[in-house]
Amino acid sequence: MTAIIVERLGAVDVDALRAIRLESLNLHPDCFSADPDIVGAMTTEQWLDGLSRGIWFGVRKDGALVAIAALTRPESKKINHTGELCAMYVRADARGTGIADSLIRYIVDVAAEEIDQITVTVNAENKRAIKLYERHGFRIAGRIPRYIRVGNSLHDELIMVRAVSSSD
Ligand SMILES: CC(C)(COP(=O)(O)OP(=O)(O)OC[C@H]1O[C@@H](n2cnc3c(N)ncnc32)[C@H](O)[C@@H]1OP(=O)(O)O)[C@@H](O)C(=O)NCCC(=O)NCCS
Repeated sequence: MTAIIVERLGAVDVDALRAIRLESLNLHPDCFSADPDIVGAMTTEQWLDGLSRGIWFGVRKDGALVAIAALTRPESKKINHTGELCAMYVRADARGTGIADSLIRYIVDVAAEEIDQITVTVNAENKRAIKLYERHGFRIAGRIPRYIRVGNSLHDELIMVRAVSSSD
């Protein structure tokens, strides 16, 4: 088995990142609150801005991105000791291989250098993702009813949190 290498993505990844992010939103509308129309309309400069801030992480297989995730930080000083894990996606043919685990471990290590706590939100029906986050120490801190609307379906969203401070 080849080693799983997680990388922080950079400007050269802009087109591949845009493609895999849109793929995730189009294939799994229930799993993400982001709107594919809005994300699809983002300019290259907007993508490059996120990449230059180092918020995007990914795993490649045979040179192509097969998994991505982002760690965002709020600007406000009052809450910038926290971060949000988002956009977590592993392509279908790469699932169940430990890639998701490696991505989360890497992001938690990066986060622990700068912040104290990570939040992730997840569709309450997304058992696979919930199990993944629980395996990495995230615990359910709340539930927002009817948070995501896809067509006529409404889905509850869980808020999950884990500490990443050095004392953790
Ligand atoms: C959620 C998601 C990122 C999880 O990634 P994944 O690869 O499917 O999940 P896991 O790494 O947890 O693997 C799931 C299964 O593979 C198994 N597995 C994990 N690592 C493994 C390894 N190294 N070797 C063999 N099996 C492994 C797990 O035991 C688990 O099996 P189980 O469900 O029978 O217990 C992925 O399914 C996905 O992209 N889903 C669509 C988008 C989505 O829901 N994103 C999350 C938004 S909050």
